[in-house]
Amino acid sequence: MPYDFTGQVAIITGAGGGLGRAHAHAFARRGAMVVVNDLGGARDGGDKAGPDSGPDSGLDSGPSAAEKVVQEITSQGGRALANFGNVTSQTDMQDMVDQTMSAFGRLDILVNNAGILRDKTFSKMALSDFQAVLDVHLMGSVIATRAVLPIMKDQEYGRIVMTTSSSGLYGNFGQSNYGAAKLALVGLTNTLKLELFRSNIRVNALAPVAATRMTDDIMPPQMLDLLTPESVSPAVLYLCGKEAPTGEIITAGAGTFARAQILESAGMFLGPEATPEMIAENWDDISDMGRAKSYKQGADQSQKFIVGAFESEA
Ligand code: NAI
Repeated sequence: MPYDFTGQVAIITGAGGGLGRAHAHAFARRGAMVVVNDLGGARDGGDKAGPDSGPDSGLDSGPSAAEKVVQEITSQGGRALANFGNVTSQTDMQDMVDQTMSAFGRLDILVNNAGILRDKTFSKMALSDFQAVLDVHLMGSVIATRAVLPIMKDQEYGRIVMTTSSSGLYGNFGQSNYGAAKLALVGLTNTLKLELFRSNIRVNALAPVAATRMTDDIMPPQMLDLLTPESVSPAVLYLCGKEAPTGEIITAGAGTFARAQILESAGMFLGPEATPEMIAENWDDISDMGRAKSYKQGADQSQKFIVGAFESEA
């Protein structure tokens, strides 16, 4: 089986429910030993909420969420352990890595999946809600990734997945905090793919769509039925395989998989004396995406400007 993870160890953050739980099961079924991280908590990152709190009702949450997933995996013959660390805590993430190493003796895969939502239009959003969402999604992924890196670099092998979102890639009303955090993870991926390539650590991003407590109040039931978390997990396994690509963004939902990219038009040289009027006059050509391309790194894009200027002089 090409995507056999026997003998490998995968940490999945926020795996007490939803997508993380599905990823944990998918890895375990393919032989991996799995660390199921989840601190529990409500959808907005607060304490486990009471029964009347709608989507924040604490379903699939609480410290027992991670333990429950571990029990499910072990009862099916897999190997897993629970970790209740908060991804925003450096101490917790270091403890999680230490716990992983003492239990399983190795660490190959990190799936940064933990997340919270605090939706509101930007002008009405408390800055503390903006910060909290950045902290969990962006800094949580940064902190967990930093914690696993020394081991992955030493062994010259690692697979890391960042969970981004269509809200970051394309925007979503009421999710400025979430969208900003999620696209920041693409920026992080873009640089880590360069810095970690020589250590054979591949870093990719997943933009999932799935019926979980995050989406249970924003889509009709017929749509939610199709969007099983399990239908997303094959993309994560693909990104964590031995032959994984690096720096890619995979989108996945209801059994469809696609690649997302940031593209830039070929552009047009207007010269150092260019005026906004010239840009307006030439906007159709400047914005023509017919010869658009994606760049492997920022410097490749800068090169286009230099070439454009040189060619104009020639
Ligand atoms: P979920 O709410 O079921 O799962 C998130 C899990 O993260 C929860 O179990 C929660 O307890 C845990 N968590 C929250 N803060 C944590 C922290 N500080 N430390 C450790 N664990 C923490 O939601 P879902 O949908 O499964 O989300 C998983 C990931 O997928 C998230 O990053 C989310 O933003 C992302 N995503 C989900 C989409 C969807 O359609 N469900 C769409 C796009 C992205």
